[in-house]
Parts: sequence; structure tokens; C-alpha cells
Amino acid sequence: MILIGPPGSGKGTQAQRLEQRIGAVHLSTGELLRDEIAAESPLGKTAATYMNAGRLVPDQVAVKVVVDHMDRGDPDADYILDGFPRTTIQAEELDRILGERGLEVGKAVEIYIEDDVLKERLTGRFACVKCGEGYHKSFKRPEIEDVCDKCGSIEFDVRSDDTEETIRTRLGIYHVETAPILPYYENRGLLVKVDGEKSVSDVTKEIELILADVG
Ligand code: AP5
Repeated sequence: MILIGPPGSGKGTQAQRLEQRIGAVHLSTGELLRDEIAAESPLGKTAATYMNAGRLVPDQVAVKVVVDHMDRGDPDADYILDGFPRTTIQAEELDRILGERGLEVGKAVEIYIEDDVLKERLTGRFACVKCGEGYHKSFKRPEIEDVCDKCGSIEFDVRSDDTEETIRTRLGIYHVETAPILPYYENRGLLVKVDGEKSVSDVTKEIELILADVG
């Protein structure tokens, strides 16, 4: 399954919730690239210049992190792709990558949502440094103030690309470069749309119903 949606639409939130429920691997290109940056690898150094400006990394870089991750993993795994593909070239490359592994896209789920709601979500977002659990200052605070619900850590951080200016750039790029891939899946009868302004659990339920249909 592919999750397609603008920054802040809830792709990561839903993928995290679904991966255990449906037994699939959550593959987030954003997370993999942030890992490369943290490791100060050559690929991470290239990616950082694009990501800090809110721009897409070059297609070949995004494709490389996906292929490397799949090559390291279980060849029989099912995947929830979060943030990939993001351009028409990446969508075509994905078909090639999956084809080589005897896999195919089951569903492409578009999470749609108004830009104003997204800005509020992204400017309030923070995450646990230790386990990565995501929070929001208005919508999802830790049950005990400043203590991670999942691992008990007291260290949190804010993503460096969640500034107002970068969020504007990321939203613009979504509309210009990523939204055009939607017809690629619609024309093949693979695209389904989910209202991302519903509650987190309602969105999960909708996606689960869609996946039940795939079988
Ligand atoms: P990436 O990490 O993929 O970021 P993004 O697409 O900008 O998406 P986000 O992670 O910001 O949002 P999300 O949709 O996952 O929402 P979330 O669940 O966190 O990519 C980062 C960068 O890496 C890109 O800009 C690019 O530079 C590069 N990159 C990555 N992939 C690439 C590719 N394929 N090609 C080229 N470059 C690539 O939710 C947001 C907030 O809202 C959270 O606080 C959450 O708690 C809250 N929330 C979620 N759902 C709900 C709900 N239903 N109701 C209320 N609050 C909610």
C-alpha cells in the first residue's frame, strides 16, 4: 500500500498504527533520509541540503534508499510506503522495483486535507528523541507532561523542516510535483481517497476497510 498526502496529512501516524495491525513493514523515505543525515553519511549530507530547504531530494537518492531498505529486509514482506513515490519518475521506478521482486501496488491511498489544517498540525508537532513516538501540542500531548507515553524518555525534539517558511515550500511542492502522480494510480483503478481531517482512529478504520477489500 502507498500512502500519498501532503506534509502533515497523517501518513506517518497512520503507517505506524497500521504496520502492526496488518503485519506490514512501514517504509518511510523521510525517516530513512533523516537516519542517513544523523549518520552523517555522504547520502545524508546530500539529502540534508534539500530537506532543510523543504525541497524533494533527487529521484535517484529517494529510489536508492527504498531499494537498499528492501534489499536488507524480508523478501516476502508487504510494505506500507509512506512518502514514496513523490514524483512521476519515482512512481515508474516503484513499478520496476516491485516487479523485480514479484510484488505490485495493492492500493494507493490519498489522504486529502486543507492546507490551513496542515500548517497548524506541522507547527505543533514534536517527537520523542529516544523512540520516535510523535506528539502534538494541541492534538496529542503525552499523558504525563514532558514524559513519553511509550518509552518514558523526557527528551523531545522538533523537526528542522517544520518551520513556517519550509512548510509553505513543502506544501507548494506537494501540489506541483506529487499531486500529479494521483492520476497514475487512478487510471489503473488503484486510487482510493480518505478524509484526513477525521480523527486518527477513524482514518485508520477507513484504511483498514480499504485493505480488507484488497484481501
Ligand atoms: P517526510 O518525512 O515524508 O515528511 P512529509 O511528507 O513532509 O510528511 P510529514 O512527516 O511532515 O507528515 P505526515 O503526513 O507523515 O503527518 P504526521 O503523521 O507526522 O519527508 C521529509 C522530507 O524528506 C521531504 O520534504 C523531502 O525533502 C524528503 N523526502 C522524503 N521522501 C522523499 C521522496 N520520495 N522523494 C524526494 N524527497 C523525499 O502528522 C502530522 C501531525 O498531525 C502530527 O503531530 C500528528 O500527531 C497529527 N495528526 C496526524 N493525523 C491527525 C488527525 N487525523 N487528526 C489530528 N491530528 C493528526
